[in-house]
Amino acid sequence: MASSFDLAGKRVFVAGHRGMVGGALVRRLAREGVELVTASRSEVDLRDQAAVFAWFASAKPQVVFLAAAKVGGIVANNTLRAEFIYDNIAIATNLIHASHVNGAEKLMFLGSSCIYPKLAAQPLREDSMLTGPLEPTNEPYAIAKIAGIKMVEAYRSQYGADFINVMPTNLYGPGDNYHPEYSHVVAALIRRFHEAKLADAPEVVVWGTGTPRREFLYVDDMADACVHLMKTYSDHELVNIGTGEDITIADFARVVAAAVGYQGRIGFDPSRPDGTPRKLLDVSRLAKLGWRATTSLEDGIARAYRAFLQETGQAAA
Ligand SMILES: NC(=O)c1ccc[n+]([C@@H]2O[C@H](COP(=O)([O-])OP(=O)(O)OC[C@H]3O[C@@H](n4cnc5c(N)ncnc54)[C@H](OP(=O)(O)O)[C@@H]3O)[C@@H](O)[C@H]2O)c1
Repeated sequence: MASSFDLAGKRVFVAGHRGMVGGALVRRLAREGVELVTASRSEVDLRDQAAVFAWFASAKPQVVFLAAAKVGGIVANNTLRAEFIYDNIAIATNLIHASHVNGAEKLMFLGSSCIYPKLAAQPLREDSMLTGPLEPTNEPYAIAKIAGIKMVEAYRSQYGADFINVMPTNLYGPGDNYHPEYSHVVAALIRRFHEAKLADAPEVVVWGTGTPRREFLYVDDMADACVHLMKTYSDHELVNIGTGEDITIADFARVVAAAVGYQGRIGFDPSRPDGTPRKLLDVSRLAKLGWRATTSLEDGIARAYRAFLQETGQAAA
């Protein structure tokens, strides 16, 4: 359902403002004339119910973007399984309930494309959620995120709260996590090609066959879509946020290598797992709601690489 919600002049809480998505939301909201409120982890641990409730009672945000979460790539998801389920359930339950109790006018909860069933038909439609078994490696994260989505739906149906859910695809850009083990694929490849360039390495070997197809969205486009939906969308149905286009890992690796300026060979290691052959969001609902991505992969990766150099204190070579 289309709606019209005015952000101007509102007290807007971006939970997770120091993260990749939260940072992009802060940049994007600067154009909306909002009164931004934030809380860093040292002020409020969002897993701590008493701290969250006390902070909300005094800060009284009118609008909440719930972009705080424990996130990571496959290794982090699969090894820190307890933290992924505990942190993410606690953050969702504390913030959604505190928003309701303190009369927040609108809230957006961020799900993720990786919580759709492992074998759901491609492109992934919003109504495929909970239609089949999850990917075992990130099941704790997915269960926590699904709990958050269901809370939003429940507060919407029982209390009439104007809370909405969005499902972003793989994101990349400034503020990404470049941890050698726990990062997502884009950050991992930027780092590996950059290090290979500095070391003059003849080859970078990418995990798997290079044939799986994936979709990537620049995080500032993601923030723009979130603001657009916050202002114009109010309904119980999920909304996918992506580009609607996918690319093979092999071609994607070439885009990253070109942006980084790595000129060696790109090899593939088929003994490593490929994961699902294709992961692409159906973005027709988002398109009907009047939004589409505008940053090309080449531009986005070039910007992400510049941000990587700045964030890691390295001058462009
Ligand atoms: N990245 C992606 O590709 C992707 C794709 C789909 C959906 N999403 C969703 O987008 C949202 C943001 O992801 P992101 O990539 O921006 O993650 P991120 O860069 O790791 O940022 C997460 C933020 O949450 C904060 N946070 C986590 N636990 C906290 C706690 N206990 N108390 C206070 N703050 C806490 C972090 O604070 P610190 O800075 O103190 O650690 C950080 O600012 C998540 O809901 C994620 O599921 C991301």
